Amino acid sequence: MEIVVLNGSPKGELGVTLQYLRFAERKFPGHRFRYLHPAQGIHRLERDEGAFAAVMDAVGKADGVVWAFPLYYMLVCSQYKRFIELVFERGGRGAFAGKYAAAVSTSVHFFDHTAHAYIHGICDDLGMAYVGGYSAAMYDLARRRERERWLTFFDSFLDAARRRAPTARVHPPLPEGAPFTYRPSPPAETLNTGGMRVLVVKDGRPPGGNVDAMVAGLVSYLGGGAEVFDLAQIDIKGGCLGCCRCGLDNTCQYLGRDGYIDFYEHKVKKADALVLAGAVHDRYLSARWKAFFDRSFYNTHVPTLTGKRLAYLVSGPLGHLPNLREILSAYAEFEEVNPVGFVTDEAQDGEVIDALLGETARRLVDPRTAAYRPPMTFLGVGGHKIFRDEIYGDLRFVFQADHRYYVKNRLYDFPQGRYRTRMRNLVMMTLLRIPAFRRRFLKEIKKKMVEPLQRIAETK
Ligand SMILES: Cc1cc2nc3c(=O)[nH]c(=O)nc-3n(C[C@H](O)[C@H](O)[C@H](O)COP(=O)(O)O)c2cc1C
Repeated sequence: MEIVVLNGSPKGELGVTLQYLRFAERKFPGHRFRYLHPAQGIHRLERDEGAFAAVMDAVGKADGVVWAFPLYYMLVCSQYKRFIELVFERGGRGAFAGKYAAAVSTSVHFFDHTAHAYIHGICDDLGMAYVGGYSAAMYDLARRRERERWLTFFDSFLDAARRRAPTARVHPPLPEGAPFTYRPSPPAETLNTGGMRVLVVKDGRPPGGNVDAMVAGLVSYLGGGAEVFDLAQIDIKGGCLGCCRCGLDNTCQYLGRDGYIDFYEHKVKKADALVLAGAVHDRYLSARWKAFFDRSFYNTHVPTLTGKRLAYLVSGPLGHLPNLREILSAYAEFEEVNPVGFVTDEAQDGEVIDALLGETARRLVDPRTAAYRPPMTFLGVGGHKIFRDEIYGDLRFVFQADHRYYVKNRLYDFPQGRYRTRMRNLVMMTLLRIPAFRRRFLKEIKKKMVEPLQRIAETK
């Protein structure tokens, strides 16, 4: 069979993920592998329709397609995202329809599930027969058992493609929705921003839906007290290249070559409240938005928006994209912001949207919420533990700036360091071997568990 590998790494042949496919190619010599690098070559694919057609031609001739990609900000990198947009924009669906598909990623498992759900959804939208996804940790390939696991997965994929096994669509098509144009009404009142710096960043370029109108509606409540930037105005020369130069001291290889870092340092970091506005493009926001998030990686694994308020304005079917909502919520948790919420145009009712924008504007500038940061959910807690372990361990010598930050901010909160807890566990585990103690323990456990909290609830 002919297997086309769509490499989603900006590093091309030097990608970690690609090595998994090179290994599989050697182990399954009866098949022909063809490697394409649409992420690395995205500028050419955008400019040169012939080059893009050659990719579609290769896909069209393949029996199986492997989406091989690194995780970038809970999704694929912006360059790969742009490639996917081009497929839809240039009518490339036909080349993909009916092809057997698998996805393989490498990462540190931080929101690998959202990236896989995205690619799975794209495969469904392209009419592909999606067989499965494989999420490897970066260096799994160096371990014998993990190599065996990977080969088993790949073998099953080849087998499914050969047998033309039936597959089910998992992600329903997104609703088209009747065309709706939102026109903001003049606000009933304008709010006093109290000198707060509110920064609105939007990408309203076509197909931008109601993004511009929603931004105008929100800003009108703030009486002009917000600064609005269009992503198209910001000089972003390209997506993150994955060079990891930033790991040592947060210096990006784009420094001085475009306007992104200047914008992030002097506008984003200086704002008190942020509003990010964009339209749904396929199953995420635009690739331009993705580049914005990816390029912020020069700050590596450290939050840069701590304490700010953050609101999202989304034009499009966000209600049908819980994966996208999870990504945007996780971003807020990782960045330690006070999330003000989401406003979408899904209500298709101008008055409802006016009211929601008014409420969002109010919450953005409400002094009562200035110091509030909600407790983290699994998204933030789980993410923290992954980064903590990686930066303490394998990633430390590359991401030295993170290590310094984690030490300074006491983020290495390993339970091993809690000596009282360790001592208590030791004593209790020993005592619980005694049958009489064990019986009494089981009788009293509910009461004892709640006792310390009852004391606080009744006295503090
Ligand atoms: C900009 C950027 C963003 C990243 N975001 C994530 C992420 O969200 N989750 C994760 O687990 N790893 C993340 N990583 C780590 C890469 O996914 C990982 O290093 C991957 O193995 C690189 O594969 P490649 O060499 O094929 O490009 C990120 C790396 C970079 C440079």
